[in-house]
Amino acid sequence: MKSGDAAIPDFTWIPTVAAIAREAGARLREFLAQGVETEYKGDVDVVTAADRAVEKLIRGRLHEALPEHGVFGEEGTRERMEGEFRWYVDPLDGTTNFAHGFPQFCVSLGLEHRPSALAPGDDGTLLAGVIYDPMRDELFAAERGRGAWLNDRRIQVSRTPDLAESLVATGFPSRKRHLNPNVHFYQEFTLRSHGVRRAGSAALDLAWTACGRLEAFWEFNLNPWDTAAGILLVTEAGGRVTDFAGNSYRLDSREVLASNGLIHNEMVSLFQDMFAGRNLAPIPTPQEFAARRAARNAG
Ligand code: IPD
Ligand code: CA
Ligand code: CA
Repeated sequence: MKSGDAAIPDFTWIPTVAAIAREAGARLREFLAQGVETEYKGDVDVVTAADRAVEKLIRGRLHEALPEHGVFGEEGTRERMEGEFRWYVDPLDGTTNFAHGFPQFCVSLGLEHRPSALAPGDDGTLLAGVIYDPMRDELFAAERGRGAWLNDRRIQVSRTPDLAESLVATGFPSRKRHLNPNVHFYQEFTLRSHGVRRAGSAALDLAWTACGRLEAFWEFNLNPWDTAAGILLVTEAGGRVTDFAGNSYRLDSREVLASNGLIHNEMVSLFQDMFAGRNLAPIPTPQEFAARRAARNAG
């Protein structure tokens, strides 16, 4: 990275890990160009040879560069889990997009510090995060206390103060979809904002919240490989990350709400209302709509 509008700090991990993420992203571009078979992990949860090959590449590169660091990867890597440093690796966040040639996916690498006295179920401290979008050649990077960066530019969350003027994002699970209520939240936030995007890569949604393209992002049931890097990016860019009730976010939280901070309390109180069934904005059911349309056509 070269200097942009602010002096780039003396990063500890980013230079090494950014190079790994760029190499991984280049492999994803090659796989995309040559085409890959899609397999089902279950329901509509897909995986490709690219997910596995790129996790293997990242695991190997991290081991060469940082041999003492642990790796916890979506595609099954569990190495040196007893160590003080642990990388959460999503080699391809946005696999469904990738499998369809929809160019919204990334590599996500987040580093957690886990001192030896930490209980196994407790969260450590996020130290570094890198998210690389190989289709736009955008590298998002953050280190604790050193800000968040997009290529050579320091980034900050947006200053939009109200949900009504915000563009927000969400995602939907690929497992047990019928048990998830998120479509109701999608509806409510759509009616109360400039719109809700559902672009299919949670890590990029978080990175885009960090750089102000989105005011907020929420989702149910994400995993640490989806969120570790993005959460540090959002907080280092001046935003806030909690669960839907406003409690501190934990890596095993089943809910994540990340925002520019300014619209956070408004969103938390809307979640409270929605969970309680209060103040919902009604829209016609398809049957009601069809009946009105038929009446209009008849008249
Ligand atoms: C998925 C993406 C998607 C989100 C899903 C995730 P994957 O990750 O982040 O945006 O809605 O919940 O599982 O499977 O493509 O790595
Ligand atoms: Ca993911
Ligand atoms: Ca993935």
